[in-house]
Amino acid sequence: MIKQDILNELKATGDYVSGETLSEKLGISRTAVWKHINSLKKDGYDILSVTNKGYRLLQSDVLNAEEIQSWLTTEYFGRNAVCVHETDSTNDLAKRESSMPEGTVFTADIQTAGKGRRGKSWVSGNGDGLWMSILIKPDIMPQQLSGITLVTGLAVAKALIEITGAEVLIKWPNDIVLERKKLCGILCEMSAEINAINYAVCGIGINLNKSVFDGEIGDVACSVMSVTGKKTNRGEVCAKVLNHFEPLYSQYLSEGIESIIGEYKKYCVTIGKTVNIVKGKEVIKAKAVDLNTSGELLIETENGRETVSSGEVSVRGLFGYI
Ligand code: BTN
Repeated sequence: MIKQDILNELKATGDYVSGETLSEKLGISRTAVWKHINSLKKDGYDILSVTNKGYRLLQSDVLNAEEIQSWLTTEYFGRNAVCVHETDSTNDLAKRESSMPEGTVFTADIQTAGKGRRGKSWVSGNGDGLWMSILIKPDIMPQQLSGITLVTGLAVAKALIEITGAEVLIKWPNDIVLERKKLCGILCEMSAEINAINYAVCGIGINLNKSVFDGEIGDVACSVMSVTGKKTNRGEVCAKVLNHFEPLYSQYLSEGIESIIGEYKKYCVTIGKTVNIVKGKEVIKAKAVDLNTSGELLIETENGRETVSSGEVSVRGLFGYI
């Protein structure tokens, strides 16, 4: 696609490219170049046009299928992308479109009813972050899918480390944290029968470009921008999450969650901490000792050792979020 070629050329050069160079390279007229540039501007790309110099792409944060695909190295994850400006929740959008192929990614600039875990809502302002859901159709038993939350968390952590170079960690099971505050939340949902999965949706919300977190949320939440001061391109983050997700997911399906746990533990900030384990209304103080091969948390309380699974408890720090 010529429009994509122009965009790639502008990105690769990082400087002015003349209309003449573009028209020669792509074998189209200068008027055609100008039309494609205008169309890119309409898509939201910030492009400077200067007489005698040409066109220059300024840092733009456009989230569409082409942008995501320009960063992808996957075989099939993200190759089909549904990117909308506004929806209720990308998880719900993915569920409505669950007949689409496995690996389809759904994104939105704004979610009007973003969902968090345990019935909470997820604040999802316009372009403040990446709100994405990945559609999967694993051929395994429903009870074997619980490890997918850990797989998703690990993929996100690795992608964010690759992009920001910051010390991004995972609070078990799947909150992604930076400087002791929550950067990303993950909500995986599944549609299944007793012995077969119809589909599942891995919903990921990453705070990227929001600079201020008001009120209560300010004590626990952060964004890449609020910590590093840098803006991040959502398309790049989306693609890089998928680039890490695809091989981890395939390893998970072929070798089980136990093959992922070793790497997961390297990023897990919870192990070794004294935490409060919240089980419904009950709160137990415990030391988080380790993860077992199924990804359950091994804790030590005054009554001895026990394992807890991510579905049944939530973990809180003694003096704050971590
Ligand atoms: C959490 O409570 O930590 C989970 C938050 C998950 C938010 C993401 S944003 C994209 C996807 N769509 C939703 O409605 N929720 C998830």
